[in-house]
Amino acid sequence: MTASVFEQHEMAPIDNDSADRDSAGDDSAVPGVDKSGTRVREMFRQIAPRYDAMNHLLSLSIDRYWRWRAVRRLRMEPNHPVLDTCTGTGDLAIAIAKKAPPSVHVMGSDFCTAMLEIACQKRRPGKSSENIEFIEADSQALPFPENTFQCVTVAFGLRNVTDTDQGLREMVRVCTAGGQVVVLEFSQPRMIGLRQLYGFYFRIILPRIGQWFARNDKSAYKYLPESVGQFPDGQTLADRMTAAGMVQVRFTPMTFGVATIYEGKKPSVRNELMKQGQP
Ligand SMILES: C[S@@+](CC[C@H](N)C(=O)[O-])C[C@H]1O[C@@H](n2cnc3c(N)ncnc32)[C@H](O)[C@@H]1O
Repeated sequence: MTASVFEQHEMAPIDNDSADRDSAGDDSAVPGVDKSGTRVREMFRQIAPRYDAMNHLLSLSIDRYWRWRAVRRLRMEPNHPVLDTCTGTGDLAIAIAKKAPPSVHVMGSDFCTAMLEIACQKRRPGKSSENIEFIEADSQALPFPENTFQCVTVAFGLRNVTDTDQGLREMVRVCTAGGQVVVLEFSQPRMIGLRQLYGFYFRIILPRIGQWFARNDKSAYKYLPESVGQFPDGQTLADRMTAAGMVQVRFTPMTFGVATIYEGKKPSVRNELMKQGQP
């Protein structure tokens, strides 16, 4: 976590509690799942030391493959920065830095200091991860000017953001015109039989392993299936991305639909002018 070159942008003070209360389209209102910023941040603070191990264990390490697939979607040009929001312990940011041309500055943002501290420890001297800049920021009020990043990504984070639509709008705002927004998120398999099996693993087995492993935070791995169960996926999430201002939104389910990559583009300046009737 370092002072950012982008700090000259006027930052709206982040008040997570008021963001929790005031956001239009606030998904924290979904019955049964408390997605208030305070609760989500505290939950990730508690599980931060075991987050990576749990992730790889519970997904049988498939999460690495999903991130790799997401990174392969990025079309990165030299000299233009990339932002990974809700970066957590930084795995996607690190994978992006590995693939990016050396002149691409990669940043990771998250509102949980404990997760970012682990991300910072993963930077290796002499490796592409060395220059990743991690900053503390709420995805609902990113401290960057508009049109800053050629690609803006989020992996398994959007589901946790109190106001999904505000999180998406912020990703679009800080993305350059014509740039890419990529979302990687859990989804529900559609195949009969597999859907039930997955539901059983996710609701019954996974929280038990999680509770056993995470010991002092029993609610975190109950939260996971609950938050996935109520989160939009497939075309519904694609439509929310379009509503947030993206064009050419498409999605690719992976591993029988357990996770999905969503991609959208911020309209180019020319598109916008044409929409307003200007040549
Ligand atoms: C499940 S973790 C995902 C971490 C990482 N992207 C990965 O692929 O493993 C979700 C992360 O989203 C962060 N998060 C949730 N809501 C946020 C918000 N409003 N602003 C910033 N970060 C948020 C949490 O602190 C947590 O680190």
